[in-house]
Amino acid sequence: MTMTSPTIDLTMLADPALRADPYPLLRQMREASPLPLIDGLLVVTGRHRDCSAVLRHPHASSERYRSALTAPNLEISTLSFLSLDPPDHTRLRRLVSSAFTPRVVTALRPRITEIVDSLFRRVAEQGRMDVIDDLAYPLPVQIISELLGVPAEDHERLRAWSAQLARGLDPQFTDPDPERVAVAEGARTEFNRYFSTLIAQRRTHPREDLLSLLVHAESEGDKLNEEELLATCVLLLVAGHETTTNLIANAVLALLRHPDQLDALRARPDLVDGCTEETLRYDPPVQMTTRAARGTLPVGEVEVPDGGIAVLLIAAANRDPDVFDEPDRFDITRKPGGHLAFAAGIHFCLGAGLARLESAVALDAFAQRIVAPRLLEPVEYKANINLRGPARLDVTFDAIR
Ligand code: HEM
Repeated sequence: MTMTSPTIDLTMLADPALRADPYPLLRQMREASPLPLIDGLLVVTGRHRDCSAVLRHPHASSERYRSALTAPNLEISTLSFLSLDPPDHTRLRRLVSSAFTPRVVTALRPRITEIVDSLFRRVAEQGRMDVIDDLAYPLPVQIISELLGVPAEDHERLRAWSAQLARGLDPQFTDPDPERVAVAEGARTEFNRYFSTLIAQRRTHPREDLLSLLVHAESEGDKLNEEELLATCVLLLVAGHETTTNLIANAVLALLRHPDQLDALRARPDLVDGCTEETLRYDPPVQMTTRAARGTLPVGEVEVPDGGIAVLLIAAANRDPDVFDEPDRFDITRKPGGHLAFAAGIHFCLGAGLARLESAVALDAFAQRIVAPRLLEPVEYKANINLRGPARLDVTFDAIR
């Protein structure tokens, strides 16, 4: 197989030296888009209009395991609705949505505030914090775990499995790494074993938690079977772990690197939602996604043949100058809308409301309560290419109000 572009290819994104700032390369990739690779079977695009159109196209399939280009690394039975097409996707998403409503999410605000308060209390005397370990990680984990009904003593175990699964989500078609796949699969097996026990308990002794709601969720006489339940639990837990952590961390990082924006947020707390949206655009926690072509799939001027793959560089699309003025500028007063951080179309992130709420509470507290925060550079990044974010974020401060 030949690469049709000699200068740019997807493997360049794997360069660890670029993890802290992949944006110059993403810009090059966007400008070269659509970029056919592997004899045109794989098409990469970083243009906003292409990504947006593909995400909404009826031939864009989330069942990537069908493509010969995707390493056959998943047991089909363990797929969540994230990786399914209609009609299965529609049925499962509807059942889960019925338990995970905006009302369930809105009701969490006091609990989110309480957790942020207690996390701040822990570090107040130290004059320093690692924004990841002391805020951005524990907050979403605690919330999604409490929501699902996972006991606090199990959080640490879930943390390791979740990180292994997230690493397994990095692009595999250019550089399949059997060991990484094996580790991710091992983590999934552990997750399944763990949740099987919890589900069995909730069947007989339901509680006031999302897991019990899911076990009993019903829509038009339909229910989730055991495998679907397991896959949904793992999806909610992992999606709720890594991504929101990166959102909060990326926002704090951007604020500290743009002190004028932090000042603006302090002066106008109502800008907090704008700050979340701008971070989602400027430094998205999920950098890319893929779709398999089920039938011919147009990507701008080119077409992915049936069975091929379209790689959508969300992080590049979110800085497309055709859609955003001065796209490389972090501006929390920007008019909201248009970014693809939560994707678009039928797979639009189901947890967007929860992520936005957690981010708003955390960023408001950070801006209003941490006195004179100072960032310790350089910032070290996790190895993940797709669910990309800092490994640590050390900040010193004078006091917490
Ligand atoms: C789907 C991003 C937080 C649950 C997605 C997708 C993206 C995304 C890009 C679509 C993937 C694709 O179709 O290729 C994010 C980001 C988050 C976040 C950036 C945080 C800032 C959450 C949270 C939850 C969640 C907190 C749940 C607790 C889901 C679910 C789907 C999904 C269930 C699958 C939707 C479907 O296939 O219909 N997310 N997510 N996400 N997300 Fe999120």
